[in-house]
Amino acid sequence: NQIYIGVDLGGTNIKVGICDENGQLLHTYEGPTKVEDGAEAVLGRIADYVRKIVDDSDFTWDQVAGIGAGLAGFLDIPEGIVKFSPNLGWNNVQAKKILEEKLGKTVKIDNDANVAALGEAWSGAGAGIKNVVCYTLGTGVGGGIIIDSHIYQGSGGMAGELGHMSIVPDIEAINCGCGQVGCLETVSSATGIVRMANDAVERSEHTSLALLEKIAAKDVFDAAKQGDDVALRIVHRAAHYIGKSMASIAVVLNPQRFIIGGGVSKAGEILFTPIRETFLKFTPEQAREGVDIVPATLGNDAGVVGAAGLNLNH
Ligand code: BGC
Ligand code: NA
Ligand code: ZN
Repeated sequence: NQIYIGVDLGGTNIKVGICDENGQLLHTYEGPTKVEDGAEAVLGRIADYVRKIVDDSDFTWDQVAGIGAGLAGFLDIPEGIVKFSPNLGWNNVQAKKILEEKLGKTVKIDNDANVAALGEAWSGAGAGIKNVVCYTLGTGVGGGIIIDSHIYQGSGGMAGELGHMSIVPDIEAINCGCGQVGCLETVSSATGIVRMANDAVERSEHTSLALLEKIAAKDVFDAAKQGDDVALRIVHRAAHYIGKSMASIAVVLNPQRFIIGGGVSKAGEILFTPIRETFLKFTPEQAREGVDIVPATLGNDAGVVGAAGLNLNH
């Protein structure tokens, strides 16, 4: 039996998993990233966790047929380099090379949201569908484009960076971690939602959020569900720009399904309803026929499953 290892590197935790050749997740292990230790140490920790999960299982190192890793940030996939990652604080890190030296095996790297999209397309909300576009809404806004059941990487690896679509009108646009202004991520990430809430409180707007010591994205959704007008406006703004971006993607790629994952997607209908309404409003009928917008189903496992899947044919 051959096994496939998937690694999901997040800002807080590193998750590793063992999958069989059908993408069935057999074991997972999670440990801290400690991003402040720097790239070399974090990559060393990934290698340690990969060895540990195999050692602790009934499998042997020889049964490992492939290792894949999903990394947050702008990648040069053919070169195996993380060119820039604001969330990890990495610049031009030779991730593939370093991991291969530490593990003595070939490692495939790809973007974290690309591999999450692959996981969902393979065995989650996109199972059985060949063309899907996936959003991950968390600290940042990630994206993954699956065409004919494969990740579309673009010429260098920047395809599917949906969070950096320039979409907020100039007059309202604010700076993004990528160096541009008005990116989708500035309004539709957890970070963007919290920023808008803090701004509203600072402007002394009438909202229950003002009573909280520290506002999290979930607080904004909870307040919106209670009918708080300010929170509702913020949620609708986050949803509006996702829906509008989908309208553009629909006429560029004509996917059959949009999948939304990441922590923010747990908000449910209060987020999905305005996304669907906006999508309907701005998409030509022929481009939205048969297209649906659904929540991800693999939750936290999408990344490791998809990363393991980088070495498999689907
Ligand atoms: C990064 C993406 C990443 C996403 C989610 C964005 O800020 O540009 O590469 O996929 O955050 O982690
Ligand atoms: Na991506
Ligand atoms: Zn950006």
